Amino acid sequence: MHDPAVFRSMHLARFQAAPAVFAAPGRVNLIGEHTDYAEGFVMPAAIDFATLAGISPRSDGKIVVYSENYGEERSFEAALLPAIASKHWSDYPLGVVAILAGEGHRIPGFSLSLWGDVPLGSGLSSSAAVEVATALAVCSLIETTYPGPVLARLCQRAENEFVGASCGIMDQFISANGQENHALLLDCRDLSFRLAPIPAHIALVIANTMVKHSVAGGDYTTRRAEVEAACATIARHRPEVRFLRDATVEDLEKWGHEMTPNSLKRARHVVTENLRTQAAAEALAANDLAELGRLMAEAHRSYSQDFEGSCAEADAMVELARQLPGLIGARLTGGGFGGCTINLVEQSQAAAFAKALAGRYADRIGIEPQIHICHASGGAHRVL
Ligand code: GLA
Repeated sequence: MHDPAVFRSMHLARFQAAPAVFAAPGRVNLIGEHTDYAEGFVMPAAIDFATLAGISPRSDGKIVVYSENYGEERSFEAALLPAIASKHWSDYPLGVVAILAGEGHRIPGFSLSLWGDVPLGSGLSSSAAVEVATALAVCSLIETTYPGPVLARLCQRAENEFVGASCGIMDQFISANGQENHALLLDCRDLSFRLAPIPAHIALVIANTMVKHSVAGGDYTTRRAEVEAACATIARHRPEVRFLRDATVEDLEKWGHEMTPNSLKRARHVVTENLRTQAAAEALAANDLAELGRLMAEAHRSYSQDFEGSCAEADAMVELARQLPGLIGARLTGGGFGGCTINLVEQSQAAAFAKALAGRYADRIGIEPQIHICHASGGAHRVL
């Protein structure tokens, strides 16, 4: 995370007012991909990359947002905020403001600075980190607090309803509710969760393929529509199936012939991924690392072949990781179509693993990857 004291001085110099500063982390998902919007299970951890949001009140009725990452400032009348997104980084903070206003809060003028080190478009939830950090900052300004799960839901709505990306709840939830040294087994139906401790001897090695990914992109939306179409087919026979969370492998065997081949494959990924995710939480709790690794390998195969959410570079990153000492499990993490792989690696071998993986990936693909050895962090909070 960037230095909050430096960030505070930047805000002070720009806006002549000392800000309150909040941090919200990015995340890595250990297993459970494209299951959240099917009301299924996910197992993410917050990581030690974060967005900082600094906020101070203004008396001129303006909302001025500044991104240090983009080196750009935008100014709006608080009483006359845009109702639609403009495909600009400011959509994310403005979306949060719009949702809070829609909840009946009167939003006064303020200056907001944002600065993050979550790699953008890498499947590590840079957008959710911006939303959650902004939400905490604005809530503090208007003297409101929401429980973490409610705050996450408001931020998800900002992304769904304002930004126009049809994401599920996972990213905002873990950014708001992460726990140090833990992943969370989250039930996306009722947002109940169980802590999944990550033993100190396991490192989270995140390998960035450097292939860009965007949840707002068409592939994510197409996959989601295919998943929902499969669910609708099953629901014609079993109306109690409202989401694929409720469906079984037997349902797919019985009614799969009524689905398009792609819908059936996507659904098979989601239904089996839900089972794998719950099994992975048990394997982690029982310290059965061989089983955890097997489930991650199977999850990657399913994500790549049935969901067709991977890409050649990510498949290569996973395959190369499997040849290296210290690996417990590897798979593509996040929304797919590029981004990062998550590698659970024995801590004592993590540095050598990262170096070797970077070298082999560069040799094979011709792109220098970025590899980060991360730590499961706490969720969003005030830092200054
Ligand atoms: C993105 C979305 C999440 C989730 C993942 C895939 O990160 O924002 O809601 O659907 O993709 O698991």
